[in-house]
Amino acid sequence: MNEHTPVYTSPDEAVAWMGTDPIPAKAYYDPEWFELERQAIFMRTWIEIGHVCELPEPGTWIRRDLEFANASILIVRGKDGQIRAFYNACTHRGTQLVEEESGRGSNFLCPYHFWNFGYDGRLIAAPDFNRFALTKEDCKIPKVSVDTCAGLIFINLDSNPKQTLREHLGSYAEGMETLPVARATHFAEYTYEIDANWKITYDNFQENYHLRHVHGLTGIATVHPDNLYGYPTKYTFDGANRTQEIWSNPEPKITPMQGYNFGLAAKFAQEEGVLTGPHARTYFAIFPSFFIIGTPVQHFSHKVYPISATRSRGVFRVYWIGEDDSASKRYSREYALASIHDIHTEDVNIINRAQKGLLSGAIKNIHFMNMEGLCRHLYLNVVKAIDEWQAEQGKRA
Ligand code: FES
Ligand SMILES: [Fe+2]
Repeated sequence: MNEHTPVYTSPDEAVAWMGTDPIPAKAYYDPEWFELERQAIFMRTWIEIGHVCELPEPGTWIRRDLEFANASILIVRGKDGQIRAFYNACTHRGTQLVEEESGRGSNFLCPYHFWNFGYDGRLIAAPDFNRFALTKEDCKIPKVSVDTCAGLIFINLDSNPKQTLREHLGSYAEGMETLPVARATHFAEYTYEIDANWKITYDNFQENYHLRHVHGLTGIATVHPDNLYGYPTKYTFDGANRTQEIWSNPEPKITPMQGYNFGLAAKFAQEEGVLTGPHARTYFAIFPSFFIIGTPVQHFSHKVYPISATRSRGVFRVYWIGEDDSASKRYSREYALASIHDIHTEDVNIINRAQKGLLSGAIKNIHFMNMEGLCRHLYLNVVKAIDEWQAEQGKRA
């Protein structure tokens, strides 16, 4: 596969290099396939997990649970301002150190026998410690690799990641740093669980072919003679990641309420200095399952975390710069998240049906046309990651 495809003159041309082969349907429901993805991808790739605005000062921390790893992770800003990540597990007998989702303090005190850990992961003190044949140095909480880009926090569960985060993001890191999210101080989110494979859940947001049919209700259907399906104007690919440039409908069919709110959002984006920018129409899709859209008036991210072959958890976030300092700003921000929620409500049912239709195994292959090229690119990179992992396993055996 091409690692760095050049800029093409049309989206159709941009995806041609990936071919037109049918895609094996079992990749979207088979537990054995999922187990390969879990080990080859999720247990050793950079996973987006939060934003630095959640750790505004030394001593703040957040907890994130990852079902695919049976793990709970603590992400902490230490006294020195550094962000570190650890497993949420005591090195005495494994007890989870915290149950809260976030907090602020200076140490993690295990509730079982009161082993006390610093925010650098070291054991500070433990009652009657001289009865153990251990040194404190032996008792550090297991670390997790962590790094940031554009204010977004990524972790990697591989104890020795084969790429740095920058290497993983490739040429897109620079573009992402120009997004409003890099300066965000606030966000709102909603989380959902769905009975669908992570790729089916994620791919729904990688193609516009369905907009016209599924999103009539919320009025985002891009019905315009110039572009009947609202297809993107450009695709780019870099390694396992990809972008698309969102088409701008010259005559969007929106309700007066939407018009009012988009107007408000545009006004606030202008005040925040983010209304325009080199990536104001860019959708960055970062392997395996994160995307962020640069559009300032609807600047949002979506992350899909797999739970099993046919169940996933998704997190939508809308990021902002600065406090809600007026009722209309508050209203505009609430509306942005509510409208994403509305659109997503239309998607959920169809995603469920897409999954259910595959479960019998009667459908052997699925098909992506050229304007579903981002979905094909994800599949090809999943296969590539599995192949690489299997080759490494073979070497080790
Ligand atoms: S399990 Fe944590 S102190 Fe005993
Ligand atoms: Fe949709």
